[in-house]
Amino acid sequence: MSTEPQVEGTLSVTDSRTGQTYEFPITDGTVRATDLRQIKTSDDDFGLMTYDPAFMNTASCRSAITYLDGDAGVLRYRGYPIEQLAAKSTFLEVAWLLIHGELPTAKELEGFEKQIVDRMVVQAEVGESIKAFARNAHPMGILEAGFGHLSTLYPEAKQVESGPERMEAIINTIAKMPTIGAMAFRHNQGKDIVAPDPSLDYSTNILKMFFGADYEVDPRLVRALDILLILHADHEQNCSTSAVRAVGSSQVDTYSAVNAGIAALYGPLHGGANEAVLVMLREIGSADNVSDFMDKVKSREALLMGFGHRVYKNYDPRATIIKGACDDVFEVTGVNPLLEVAVALEATALADDFFIQRKLYPNVDFYSGLIYEALGIPTEMFTVMFAIGRAPGWVAQWLEMIQDKDQKISRPRQIYIGSGERDYVEVSAR
Ligand SMILES: CC(C)(COP(=O)(O)OP(=O)(O)OC[C@H]1O[C@@H](n2cnc3c(N)ncnc32)[C@H](O)[C@@H]1OP(=O)(O)O)[C@@H](O)C(=O)NCCC(=O)NCCS
Repeated sequence: MSTEPQVEGTLSVTDSRTGQTYEFPITDGTVRATDLRQIKTSDDDFGLMTYDPAFMNTASCRSAITYLDGDAGVLRYRGYPIEQLAAKSTFLEVAWLLIHGELPTAKELEGFEKQIVDRMVVQAEVGESIKAFARNAHPMGILEAGFGHLSTLYPEAKQVESGPERMEAIINTIAKMPTIGAMAFRHNQGKDIVAPDPSLDYSTNILKMFFGADYEVDPRLVRALDILLILHADHEQNCSTSAVRAVGSSQVDTYSAVNAGIAALYGPLHGGANEAVLVMLREIGSADNVSDFMDKVKSREALLMGFGHRVYKNYDPRATIIKGACDDVFEVTGVNPLLEVAVALEATALADDFFIQRKLYPNVDFYSGLIYEALGIPTEMFTVMFAIGRAPGWVAQWLEMIQDKDQKISRPRQIYIGSGERDYVEVSAR
């Protein structure tokens, strides 16, 4: 991809209100929304805006990180197909790739892995503040609080113009996300926190911090976890990443910008979907009830969670890889009985006109929850797992944003539809 805008032609627009014609450059298949401001009916007219409430057709940045073709079901990180990365790479190698743009050399990777595991430990005061949460507090709420806490513990991260400070915060974010997640998990269970062990790799540490230092880690489960994290590592300008970029554009510190991503991910239409899938599968209970549930979906009484995607109008390539990983995990843990319900749901949906016409296919969340459950991770922790996986994407996108010369503070416009000017009425007169 060229780093400079490619001029492809021009767009001629005639404004029927004035009869005036304008010519706008088309670069990279887009027109600049601000160019449209030249289209005015009078000198004091603000100029033409575009209306795009969910950013359905707005490129918010130029990015060299992730390529996604939703119609073809293609996902690449820095040009490398997700299938190859899931088959051959590791999560931390992918994290380096996303951040730096190239695969690391063996020496770079070794140094990076060491830096990350060394930084997994989290300050004791974060653990103390987690103790103040209710036992049943949602771990995503605790994760948000933990990252808010980190932003106060690393005031130097405010220096977003400093390359070394940026890299410190990036490494800390990837390293400490699972540790705070594990602290939340242990707190929910009324168990003591398990400190990370710098002699172990990242994914083994995650399982040990979750389940206890004595937990026997099966390497097949570690690999499955690593693959899940790779699949979640980035997905271009999704809701949480856009939140990280928008909040980061205020030049707030990295931890606070990442916190915006955690908050966005918490929502059921984004990261909360894999949790919602498991709740849905449990409610359906057995493959015999699939057809009744489908009737509810079609009569708009329910959503088929884990299906549909803003960008993919084809099989989500990550769903295919996860389906494969399910087999490896179930070989170790035994088959999750809800798998049968999921498979029946998928088959029914893919053969149903309602889903075919709307191009609704399984997304990454449809099967990931089943694996997490098989690993012994409870549903309320699923979104935390997503956050651990997405951390490298958030920081890579944040870094790209902060270095982008086109970037200013994010500040959309609105179409005002409220009342015109009116006089205040005293409360006694209302
Ligand atoms: C992901 C999602 C938010 C994308 O939303 P979107 O791009 O705004 O798509 P729309 O809501 O416009 O959907 C288009 C049509 O498909 C329907 N649809 C979309 N997802 C559906 C689902 N999961 N179950 C049933 N119908 C669905 C919509 O009702 C709409 O129908 P209509 O055109 O007759 O009104 C949406 O598909 C969804 O809610 N999925 C379930 C949650 C989920 O799995 N999220 C994880 C994403 S990784």
